[in-house]
Amino acid sequence: MATTRIAATGMYLRTPTLSSFTRTTRRRLSPTVFPSKFPLQLRAFSTASPIVDPKPTDSIVVDDKEVRRSSNSLACPVCFDSLTWTGDSGLSVDSIPVSSLQCSTCQKTYVGNQTHLDLTATSGAKNYGDLMPASTELFRVPLISFLYERGWRQTFSVWGGFPGPEKEFELMKGFLNPVLGGNIIDASCASGLFSRLFAKSGLFSLVVALDYSENMLAQCYEFIQQEDNFPKENFILVRADIARLPFVTSSVDAVHAGAALHCWPSPSAVVAEISRVLRPGGVFVATTYILDGPFTFVPFLSTVRQNIRQASGSYIFLSERELEDLCRACGLVGFKCIRNGPFVMISAAKPK
Ligand SMILES: C[S@@+](CC[C@H](N)C(=O)[O-])C[C@H]1O[C@@H](n2cnc3c(N)ncnc32)[C@H](O)[C@@H]1O
Repeated sequence: MATTRIAATGMYLRTPTLSSFTRTTRRRLSPTVFPSKFPLQLRAFSTASPIVDPKPTDSIVVDDKEVRRSSNSLACPVCFDSLTWTGDSGLSVDSIPVSSLQCSTCQKTYVGNQTHLDLTATSGAKNYGDLMPASTELFRVPLISFLYERGWRQTFSVWGGFPGPEKEFELMKGFLNPVLGGNIIDASCASGLFSRLFAKSGLFSLVVALDYSENMLAQCYEFIQQEDNFPKENFILVRADIARLPFVTSSVDAVHAGAALHCWPSPSAVVAEISRVLRPGGVFVATTYILDGPFTFVPFLSTVRQNIRQASGSYIFLSERELEDLCRACGLVGFKCIRNGPFVMISAAKPK
């Protein structure tokens, strides 16, 4: 386990014991650990495969329509079998509204709307809808989606120790280094704060911005439309439940989940699901709030934490030890983390 802390003066490495914040070994991280820029030529050498091949290699004609087949990693959320899609071009922000994807096993068809592709299991249901926990439903409210990047997210830096999107992006690139050039899912992306940074960085062959909230996805779509020269061809917006990821097993190079783990109803169900879709060597990186160290000994704090969890249904304030255990239990190895007060960025990978 390796832990890095962020200080006002810069980053330093902490050789940790969980209960001892005093035994801190300060050492400036070398630029090779967290380079400020990653060479774009990494893409050319990457062996990672795109999630949806932008130039499908094979197509057949069904009912006078061309059905394109490819090394498509999008999967049916019911069967987890890969989907075939009908359309003139590969999937992208612009082609989603006219795309339709079909599962050859259950024959279910998934169609895109103006902003996103709905790949929830309930997609197409006429009378039934899942009632999700408060930590999921809250973000479906249109006003919250509107406010998210207009003040809400900024408060995480004020009270939660989050370094802010640019710094967080720089830090996570250190963890994502081995999979640059591959595909990435920005899981629970909200209005796509990081999805857009991933796309514009040019460091990934395809970015999937995924969230359960249709309003967050609509907001992300609006932000993209407002930007000049946004690389729409390498970007898709997908509505899905994080605990049932619509991707083929072992087909994804990287999963990022910013400030979301504490909103998931069951982090173990989700991390297991992320582990399923990651290819061998694929990387998971996430940020959340943490509470451990000396705070563990504050009287009644663990009871307060337990009550917050039960009332909100959210796993806010796990400890570093719990997060590492969670990753290991779900088949991910090489746990590392960066901490700054209640903020933590964790990373673990699928064994090669
Ligand atoms: C606090 S926001 C995080 C947004 C963004 N990743 C960031 O770093 O700012 C949490 C997001 O988790 C999403 N979420 C909650 N439950 C979910 C679920 N079951 N499936 C997918 N996304 C979910 C919410 O819709 C919300 O957009």
